[in-house]
Amino acid sequence: MTEAETAGKGSAPSATRSWSPGLEGIVAGETALSKIDGERGRLLYRGYRIGDLVERGTYGAVANLLWTGDWEPNHRLPTGPIPAAAMTALRALPKDAKPMDALRTAVSAWGATQKLDWPPTVEQARALTSFSPSALAAFTRLRQGLEPVEPDPSLDLAAGFLYQLTGERPDGGTARALDAYFVVGAEHSFNASTFTARVITSSRSDIASAIVGAIGTMKGPLHGGAPSEVVDQLAKVGSREHAEQWIREALDRGERLMGFGHRVYRAYDPRAAALRKVAESMEHKPDWLQLAIEVEDVALRILAERHPERAIKTNVEYYAAPVLQGVGLTPDLFPATFSLARHAGWTAHVLEQAATNRLIRPDVIYVGPDERDLPT
Ligand code: COA
Repeated sequence: MTEAETAGKGSAPSATRSWSPGLEGIVAGETALSKIDGERGRLLYRGYRIGDLVERGTYGAVANLLWTGDWEPNHRLPTGPIPAAAMTALRALPKDAKPMDALRTAVSAWGATQKLDWPPTVEQARALTSFSPSALAAFTRLRQGLEPVEPDPSLDLAAGFLYQLTGERPDGGTARALDAYFVVGAEHSFNASTFTARVITSSRSDIASAIVGAIGTMKGPLHGGAPSEVVDQLAKVGSREHAEQWIREALDRGERLMGFGHRVYRAYDPRAAALRKVAESMEHKPDWLQLAIEVEDVALRILAERHPERAIKTNVEYYAAPVLQGVGLTPDLFPATFSLARHAGWTAHVLEQAATNRLIRPDVIYVGPDERDLPT
């Protein structure tokens, strides 16, 4: 029996048992939802390649695929209504609250208005995934002193989100670009926020509580990522001619290049490849996109030269930045928009965890003092 199997039998923790900081390399479950092949730069949702899903799918169809396992390309998912209690909570927030805090608060208030019985259902997953874009759009308008816009059920989720943000229906290309970003961000296996959602679900808590926890985890800068930092970095680089010198000096200072490197991918991140295509085909692309493409080549060359032992390639954040900016989102909305996209994966993991549930309760190695008497 391996150490991991021994642990599963509930024996007492011992200092000799292996562990790994951050659980790196530890298998913590099984999933049929997505597969990451970091060596070959592949990402599959239920076996389907991410590039094909971006080109031929929509977020509604992909969310349904994750929830049910069925590929129904015409499946639609519009944004949903905001219950009065959730709107009251959003109105009560300070205007300078972070969008991630507003989204987390709104999901919590939404959960309090629903009858979220165990086990969680596809209907619950759909309702929550539809609600959150409306809530984030409402908060964004409220903080600008504008009234929220009612959902338009004729629009798909990404287009509906943009409509509720601006009050204007987006053109087809803009809606399609954000939809592609949502597909790319929908699911990424056992990352920290998804694992949080599964831990919460494992206690037979409800789906809203699980997603509140997941949003809280994604809020941390080590996870939620910061495509906005890619924008700042390109502004500092300034021009193609200046790129080589700027990158070398930044690396000499021990800085990291934003939008490069990944814990799992050793090959080009397939999500970055898909989003680059989307960014290049956008009608309203940011004027710095061409610079980003040129700087990427220089950065990859210098990173390969500095780290011949470790493949450091472009990651999803690099080309998420021009897509999100191109559809008109301000950088402070980037992390919360990523969370909206990830709702499909989070809620699918909630359903998967519930279906084969066992309370998640790992062992720990005690490193405190031995048993002793209280001082007299
Ligand atoms: N720029 C410069 N050097 C980088 C780098 C980057 N983007 N990513 C990794 N490296 C270097 C590290 O400096 C380190 O070098 P050293 O051994 O000489 O100190 C080596 O590669 C390994 O770094 P480590 O942090 O252990 O690798 P990781 O694979 O766990 O890192 C990230 C993953 C994402 C944290 C890391 O690549 C990073 O910080 N990237 C920039 C931020 C970013 O784009 N985040 C979005 C991720 S989707």
